[in-house]
Amino acid sequence: MKKIGLFWGSTSDNTKIASEFMQEYLEDKGFEVESHDIGDVDVEDILNYENVIIGCPTWNIGELQDDWDSVFMRYEELDFSGVTAAFFGCGDQTGYPDNFLDAIGILAKPFMDKGGKLIGKCSTEPYDFRESVALDGDKLLGLGLDYDNDDEDDCEELMVSWLDQIIGEF
Ligand SMILES: Cc1cc2nc3c(=O)[nH]c(=O)nc-3n(C[C@H](O)[C@H](O)[C@H](O)COP(=O)(O)O)c2cc1C
Repeated sequence: MKKIGLFWGSTSDNTKIASEFMQEYLEDKGFEVESHDIGDVDVEDILNYENVIIGCPTWNIGELQDDWDSVFMRYEELDFSGVTAAFFGCGDQTGYPDNFLDAIGILAKPFMDKGGKLIGKCSTEPYDFRESVALDGDKLLGLGLDYDNDDEDDCEELMVSWLDQIIGEF
């Protein structure tokens, strides 16, 4: 059974709810998922896993959620060789269209720069925004979830199709 380390941070619980949904879905598919609130663990714990999912909402206009922000300087120094990771984040495309999902890009770029293998890029098609640090050409570096403007059912649908996409790559 493949093991996945799921590391998330959440201030108003949307990313936490998404992480719980993902854990349940992946466990139903036969994966062993160890879920960690990044506020409660050492950021170095990410390196205990070959397969990782990282979740971070964007806060304060283009910034990381507080708990991720606190560990970011140590995070960007880690050697991610041998780690495969998929990124997701919560954001608000209507309220913050120039910084939609920036946190995904802020975490994904140093991960790739330090040797990590990124999976789970997504189409921008389901969203309406102007700018994002998470943009990579015409793709997003991870899955965006907009609980502020979309129904929870729509978010779950996006998660299911994204998880089905990354499952085969772990
Ligand atoms: C003060 C404030 C600033 C925010 N800044 C951004 C932003 O720059 N980009 C974005 O996509 N979402 C932004 N958001 C929306 C949050 O990312 C969104 O509500 C998210 O679901 C919160 O996730 P959490 O509940 O896991 O903390 C902001 C929300 C607030 C209240």
